[in-house]
Amino acid sequence: MLVRRILFPLLLLLGACSVAPAPQEAALPGVEGARLFKAKGCTTCHTIGEGVKVGPDLQGLFSRRDEAWIRRYIADPVAMVEQDPIARELKAQYKIQMPKMMISPVEMDQLLAYLREAGTPTKP
Ligand code: HEC
Repeated sequence: MLVRRILFPLLLLLGACSVAPAPQEAALPGVEGARLFKAKGCTTCHTIGEGVKVGPDLQGLFSRRDEAWIRRYIADPVAMVEQDPIARELKAQYKIQMPKMMISPVEMDQLLAYLREAGTPTKP
């Protein structure tokens, strides 16, 4: 009887836990984006909030550029220098050309989620 009284609620509890599994970390776009930011080599040239490296500090990126521009830029920075005055200015300032990085559409979404999260200072 005692076993039943303890074991049964315990089993119920375990059941409730498995119904609502914790979200998989890797499935969150920002987390995957953080991994890509390193894996794709962005960290060779960029920091977020630690100053200029080879290229600009990406802190506050979303407050100085709009999302469509950021997407176009990361997708093909070389073409952007030919078409876009901001890209041309950056190139003139940093002297070296950011290479085209081969980012798939899914990876682009994940990278942008990360850049938005990590590059936007949290409100006090
Ligand atoms: C070889 C160095 C290098 C690598 C690798 C690199 N970048 Fe860049 N990036 C630059 C430079 C330099 C600039 C400034 C523009 C220029 O000179 O081409 C820049 C500019 C940018 C900008 C525009 C910043 C602004 O202030 O508007 C973004 C966004 C950006 N890079 C994102 C990325 C991402 C994301 C990756 C990885 C997928 C990456 N970069 C990889 C060198 C690099």
